[in-house]
Amino acid sequence: MLELKHIGFAVREGDEELGILSDISLTIDDHKLVVFTGPNGGGKTTLAKIIMGLVTPTSGQIFWNGQDITALGITERAKLGISYGFQQPPRFKGLTVRDLLTLASGDQHLSKDQCCQFLTKVGLCANDYLEREVDVSLSGGEVKRIEIASILARSAALMIFDEPEAGIDLWSFARLTETFEQIHAGGTATMIIISHQERIISLADEVIVVGDGVIRHRGPASEILPQILADTLSGCPVLTKEAHAK
Ligand SMILES: Nc1ncnc2c1ncn2[C@@H]1O[C@H](COP(=O)(O)OP(=O)(O)OP(=O)(O)O)[C@@H](O)[C@H]1O
Ligand SMILES: [Mg+2]
Repeated sequence: MLELKHIGFAVREGDEELGILSDISLTIDDHKLVVFTGPNGGGKTTLAKIIMGLVTPTSGQIFWNGQDITALGITERAKLGISYGFQQPPRFKGLTVRDLLTLASGDQHLSKDQCCQFLTKVGLCANDYLEREVDVSLSGGEVKRIEIASILARSAALMIFDEPEAGIDLWSFARLTETFEQIHAGGTATMIIISHQERIISLADEVIVVGDGVIRHRGPASEILPQILADTLSGCPVLTKEAHAK
């Protein structure tokens, strides 16, 4: 079980303190699929990075299976079974796709067949990619899919995917959604997926809408999706003010 208690994050900009997240508290039970969604700049990635230990919160605590992990770094959290896929994955010159999957799985003898299974789940053919380097020669969508495959290879207890749909073509996206459904049905991992896609939001046990650094809404997809659509239709507050002024 993951518990966030009163998480806040602020940065200093000159003399001013800029609040990014404030008083976020939530509990995610084991093997649930939770989607974080909400407007750009709302704080979703920052929250995910705080869970992974890539960003240190300025207030609050994080508990994983009852253990306070607030002070632990990324490596220690990874050892406890938490994994995170970047919104924009880094590239690793000199490291092949096979190396990356082998490292992620922790199995030095990972076979070509096993690599192939992970790559197929993200719509890639092992023959074409296994010996390729994870460098700038890969397209944005390819590197994103390879990173997702490496999270699957890690088979962590908590998998965090930051906009897995970004830059991915429709066919691979369908494949990926099936993979999320299968992991969810298998009941072996907790998943937090940051997404703007209705197809992914509709898979969620719970949807958490993060906006302006706070939880704006939370609930089952059937309840939250209509609310998101209503929010979208209400339009931009600035434009609305202008419209009133005329
Ligand atoms: N270290 C930082 N310094 C200054 N501002 C920051 C810092 N980290 C995040 N922010 C700001 O905090 C806000 C939230 O950023 P975040 O990346 O968490 O948003 P997001 O919800 O993931 O957005 P998107 O949907 O565009 O990915 C943004 O306005 C961002 O510019
Ligand atoms: Mg983001």
